[in-house]
Amino acid sequence: MDLADLYQDVIVDHNKSPRNFGSLDDPTREAEGYNPLCGDQLKLYIKMNGDVIEDISFDGSGCAISVASASLMTERLKGANEAEAHRLFECMHQLLTDDGYEADIDDLGKLAALTGVRAFPSRIKCASLCWHALNSALKGDDQPATTE
Ligand code: FES
Repeated sequence: MDLADLYQDVIVDHNKSPRNFGSLDDPTREAEGYNPLCGDQLKLYIKMNGDVIEDISFDGSGCAISVASASLMTERLKGANEAEAHRLFECMHQLLTDDGYEADIDDLGKLAALTGVRAFPSRIKCASLCWHALNSALKGDDQPATTE
């Protein structure tokens, strides 16, 4: 099995069985992401404990890539602090938009599965939808974050 197959398997798994799907009862932050190209929306729920993301979940409608990306993101961010969440947002932004960016695959872990999306420019906004919502939640924006 080569790396591309492995990445594909991770995406399929996280789409079929999304982690952290559903709302939280007591979120301290919420944010929405919107992809105007397809009309899909995603809502992110975060429960902060100090500067640590104690719990995080998402719901909404979206394609396989957007669901897998949100599942991977929430899995990675649970237990992370705010600085780490900012760092990963910047990292994923570069990973998805800069062909020349050489990501640290070990650091990214399963998130590296999203590198395959770069080969499909029309799907980059699908993968970045949840990350825009995260950025909005971290900034405390009350307007939906769009991928445009
Ligand atoms: Fe709508 Fe992917 S097609 S988020």
